[in-house]
Amino acid sequence: MAIEPVVYGASERPPRGDYARAGADYTCPQDYARYTEQDHDTYRRLYARQSALLPGLASEAFIAALPSLGAEDRIPRFEDINARLKPATGWEIVGVPGLIPEVPFFTLLANRKFPVTDWIRTPEEFDYIVEPDIFHDLFGHVPLLFNPVFADYVQRYGQGGLKAERLGACEMLSRLYWYTIEFGLIREAGGLRAYGAGILSSSGELPYSVQSSAPQRRPLQLERTMRTRYKIDSFQETYFVIDSFQDLFDMTAADFAPVYERLRGLPEIAANASGD
Ligand code: PHE
Ligand code: FE
Repeated sequence: MAIEPVVYGASERPPRGDYARAGADYTCPQDYARYTEQDHDTYRRLYARQSALLPGLASEAFIAALPSLGAEDRIPRFEDINARLKPATGWEIVGVPGLIPEVPFFTLLANRKFPVTDWIRTPEEFDYIVEPDIFHDLFGHVPLLFNPVFADYVQRYGQGGLKAERLGACEMLSRLYWYTIEFGLIREAGGLRAYGAGILSSSGELPYSVQSSAPQRRPLQLERTMRTRYKIDSFQETYFVIDSFQDLFDMTAADFAPVYERLRGLPEIAANASGD
């Protein structure tokens, strides 16, 4: 099987990862010896800045699980994280060279394997990077894989992705991923908090998503969410809010096949649309 790099969006830059290192399932071992001291220092500085921002902005479950990543001052080893993650929820992380195509991505998730990009951004990209790197993937996504309900949701999303692929409905399903796993907000006892990885790994969007009066915030509603377009190169104009991970899990339990059928007849909704 030929391994093709994948780029989402309209980036002119080729993806950074070396896809020749990947196997047929797109995974590759974490080449730990390759990290430079500068790479470790970038991780340490990103981790320090981001973890200081979390209180009052990040979901309690995320804050509670973050220490399970281990090392804060160096890039962690995937095997060390897996020694804690596997016993906790049966998930494991696997290295990948960068973004991978939908079918292998869904297949990994359906098997409780979360793909983590194994390279880190350059110091020039400290505040913003167009592709996911190891900091986004580890810091943003992995802590909540220690939460049993959320971990089950991500697996079910992978299974649902394989089905959406057969039904030609990936675009609709990917919006659900975007507005939950990447940019989701949750209403907790303490107030509104972020649980989406794209928010949690961003120093700008974390306070913006929770506190700014500019974006729309609306309760997660399956069909509305799957019709709503999104921006990949700016802060979100709409966030969808859940009441609990259990609610999210229950809300997405139904067979989506008839939902996709119905949605095909309905127009898309702009990312910044207000009202119903
Ligand atoms: N219930 C969805 C289906 O039948 C699968 C799914 C579960 C999708 C959880 C997203 C999240 O296709
Ligand atoms: Fe992500």
